[in-house]
Amino acid sequence: MYSDKVMDHFRNPRNVGEIDNADGIGEVGNPVCGDIMKIFLKIDNNIITDAKFKTFGCGAAIASSSMATELVRGKTLEEAWEVSNKAVAEALEGLPPIKMHCSVLAEEGIHKAINDYRVKKGFEPWTEKNLHSHEQEDMTCQH
Ligand code: FES
Repeated sequence: MYSDKVMDHFRNPRNVGEIDNADGIGEVGNPVCGDIMKIFLKIDNNIITDAKFKTFGCGAAIASSSMATELVRGKTLEEAWEVSNKAVAEALEGLPPIKMHCSVLAEEGIHKAINDYRVKKGFEPWTEKNLHSHEQEDMTCQH
């Protein structure tokens, strides 16, 4: 059911943990399955210099958080904002359709952490308006 890459990131997740004095923190949850993901970002000069996560969730959610934190490291906030759940899933060499919604948590967690940072700095939070819609995603969780 899962690609080798998903299994690798599930078994050996990268960037697990918290960042002390994180500049941005985003916590998101899927109300259907109850899975929770928390993303921590260190931001220096508009660049994400470190990203970590804590996820209480299914294997796909753990692999997605691992890959998402890898993808946003070294990126500007603007570039990181554009990292879609589909990009996360593609980097994982695909997720089964019923597991695509798990990667949405990773995208939302990154967005929330970026906006947490922006608001703390006195900037307007960015909106999802011109971003990929998740409406077609089936949010029903099946572990
Ligand atoms: Fe709930 Fe994956 S996030 S099943």
